Amino acid sequence: MKKIEAIIKPFKLDEVKDALHEIGLQGLTVIEAKGFGRQKGHTELYRGAEYVVDFLPKVKVEVVCSDDMLDRAVEAIQQAARTGRIGDGKIFVSDIAEVIRIRTGERGEEAV
Ligand SMILES: Nc1ncnc2c1ncn2[C@@H]1O[C@H](COP(=O)(O)OP(=O)(O)OP(=O)(O)O)[C@@H](O)[C@H]1O
Ligand SMILES: [Mg+2]
Repeated sequence: MKKIEAIIKPFKLDEVKDALHEIGLQGLTVIEAKGFGRQKGHTELYRGAEYVVDFLPKVKVEVVCSDDMLDRAVEAIQQAARTGRIGDGKIFVSDIAEVIRIRTGERGEEAV
């Protein structure tokens, strides 16, 4: 099993959610986040003054899926979240050792 953590632009959340639903993934977690990438935030005008904004609002979508769903899931997220402009975000993938469905006690891929 794999965990996908996708940091995306907040307004792309609905599209990403729908794209994951379309390929059959049912569970996900959304976390409000802030961060910066290579551009280290940007300079923003607010009430006539320039402020350096270090941290920009982002949304982190966490999805745990079976190994065979990984490629489809990453592709779905990438397509849905992409605008082609800076700050579109990043997708991190890591291994998951175990999943337990609390209600039933199922483990592993059955529980995802
Ligand atoms: N190396 C990283 N580790 C953890 N989080 C990161 C990393 N790089 C980016 N992020 C997160 O992803 C968000 C979006 O990053 P962003 O898309 O700006 O990356 P980038 O490398 O600057 O690419 P781009 O040039 O397309 O903007 C950041 O605000 C931050 O929350
Ligand atoms: Mg950036």
